[in-house]
Amino acid sequence: MREKVVLAYSGGLDTSVSIRWIQENYGMDVITLTVDLGQGKDLDGIRDKALSAGACKAVVIDAREIFVKYFVFPALQAGAIYEGEYPLATALGRPLIAKLLVDVAEHEGAVAVAHGCTGKGNDQVRFDVSIHMLAPGLRIIAPAREWKMSRAEEIEYARKRDIPVPSTEGSPYSIDQNLWGRSIEAGVLEDPWVEPPEEVYEWTVSADRAPDQPQYVEISFEKGIPVALDSTPITGVDLTLKINSIAGQHGIGRIDHLENRLVGIKSREIYEAPAATVLHRAHQALEDLTLSKDTARFKSIVSREYSDLIYNGLWFSALHRDLRAFVLSSQQYVTGTIRMKLFKGVCSVVGRRSPYSLYSLPLATYGQDDQFDHDAAPGFIKIHALPHLTQAKTQSFQQKPMPEASPSIIPPKIGKESIKTAK
Ligand code: ARG
Repeated sequence: MREKVVLAYSGGLDTSVSIRWIQENYGMDVITLTVDLGQGKDLDGIRDKALSAGACKAVVIDAREIFVKYFVFPALQAGAIYEGEYPLATALGRPLIAKLLVDVAEHEGAVAVAHGCTGKGNDQVRFDVSIHMLAPGLRIIAPAREWKMSRAEEIEYARKRDIPVPSTEGSPYSIDQNLWGRSIEAGVLEDPWVEPPEEVYEWTVSADRAPDQPQYVEISFEKGIPVALDSTPITGVDLTLKINSIAGQHGIGRIDHLENRLVGIKSREIYEAPAATVLHRAHQALEDLTLSKDTARFKSIVSREYSDLIYNGLWFSALHRDLRAFVLSSQQYVTGTIRMKLFKGVCSVVGRRSPYSLYSLPLATYGQDDQFDHDAAPGFIKIHALPHLTQAKTQSFQQKPMPEASPSIIPPKIGKESIKTAK
């Protein structure tokens, strides 16, 4: 009996060619695994394609609910946005696909798993690291990293073997999508000076073609998880799909990010992430209302670490488990409703309320009911300023400039006269 490998299969050219390439170069039977993360593709069509390209079995798993529950919403609670721009759709999908590859490999008695990533992106790292962590010793085959074919050679390879070349191969763009967002790279986008052509966008209209009337939505959260839209309970998957569509119609969620890849390259990426944009904004607004200043401040540090570890493929790490414990604890009172206005490419928070709101009107008001103790202020200011006044008296740098405190960290170049050669 031939050995078996489970290949993560999208239905695109790379993974279709991979089926045949693995058979020819490794002599293994290929089982494909297509994971539905809400990418909105025809899954029956993909299954047929896998079989006609030579797979011995084509598995399809609807993982949308798991994706939202275990990956997307935890990342939302964590405020995980890579470099302050990218809500991490692809990066969140990879560890889940890796996990399902490992599970299916076990079910099928496969000796290896495979994916279609090239050797210069982040996704190969995310797959490989996740697989190693979940199933140490399981072999990984990455055909597109190993075969060293150019695009043209790959198409030629496919044609010779009657593997259908998708019509989208005419498109210069490389696209990945799931329900948390869509990523577009390559083609004219490789020039960071070039404005993205309208054709790269599929989920969002351009702001100047958005409706002239604003639309309001109310999103309710329980412990940091969105649970209702306009007071109607809704599942995470449905909510995300719905907000993608509503906010996309208002031109919200276009992101043009010049990002730092893990593998050391800067790359220009266009993202469409309407739901992620709206939900992160709303979640942040609810935290503004319900977290203490200190927790909010510390959480912003955690958010940054969290987004980096997701981006860097370390979802299944101990650091993640530890940060998750902090995030979960921080979400205890992040319950309430945020009112958002969607208008011409902008989503603004226009209302917020929570049973655990830390906003106190008697303390905040400038009106008659003011309960803030004004007489306590001068004492507070005195102590607050104390160390600074002490310093000003003895060092008085506020009055005198400090030319000697040069910020340079490199000593000046050594003069010729200082270089003495021994005779
Ligand atoms: N740069 C993003 C990331 O590393 C998206 C990559 C998605 N791949 C693509 N072919 N567009 O997560």
